[in-house]
Amino acid sequence: MEKLAKSRFITLEGCEGVGKSTQLKMLKEYLEKTGQPAVFTREPGGTPVAEAIRNILLDKSMEISPSVEAYLFATARVDHIDRVILPAKERGELIICDRYIDSSLAYQGVARELGIDNVLALNSYAVEKCMPDKTIFIDMDPNNSWRKQNGKKILDDRMELESDSFHGKCYEGYKELAKRYPDRIAAIAPNLDKKTTHESILDVLRAGGFIK
Ligand code: TYD
Repeated sequence: MEKLAKSRFITLEGCEGVGKSTQLKMLKEYLEKTGQPAVFTREPGGTPVAEAIRNILLDKSMEISPSVEAYLFATARVDHIDRVILPAKERGELIICDRYIDSSLAYQGVARELGIDNVLALNSYAVEKCMPDKTIFIDMDPNNSWRKQNGKKILDDRMELESDSFHGKCYEGYKELAKRYPDRIAAIAPNLDKKTTHESILDVLRAGGFIK
């Protein structure tokens, strides 16, 4: 029998509206169908404290400075790491997380212009204790996704309501990260056919020994 990787902390990243939720759902169904248990979690969130911080971060009536925003995401992450990710890692479980540190690096580091290295520094807890073993980046320009397809989705949270140029910078940020961490980050060019994208994700995860 093939051996699975020792640590299996997988994150999924990408801009708004690129089909990340659909791909997570398809991955979940595949793992269930093939009898591979996994912990599915998300950021910001995953614990009561982190979900409460999420509500502040996404509340469109809040005016939040870039630095406070970065610290709030990082704080929510510390609670999530301690209560969900590290315990699951210790139990040897497969963890699939919807967004993680690369969202902070792309959104706060690049789009909010705090700088990738500064945002890495304020996420030192995650950097030291818990970096992903593999990150799937859905490599699609958000301005070609539903953000440009009128009426498909109502823009209703503080981050979604940001300008096209902000979301374009997030995408540039992700592309920079994919260059900076070529071993960890696998860029998946989405196919119009979501099944093909799903298969590409499975191929990457199987090749790394993260799933069967
Ligand atoms: P969410 O509704 O979960 O976004 P999506 O459905 O697109 O995954 O909202 C999370 C938002 O927070 C999203 O706009 C990305 C942003 N974000 C950051 O800016 N920094 C971070 O560290 C994280 C985890 C998310």
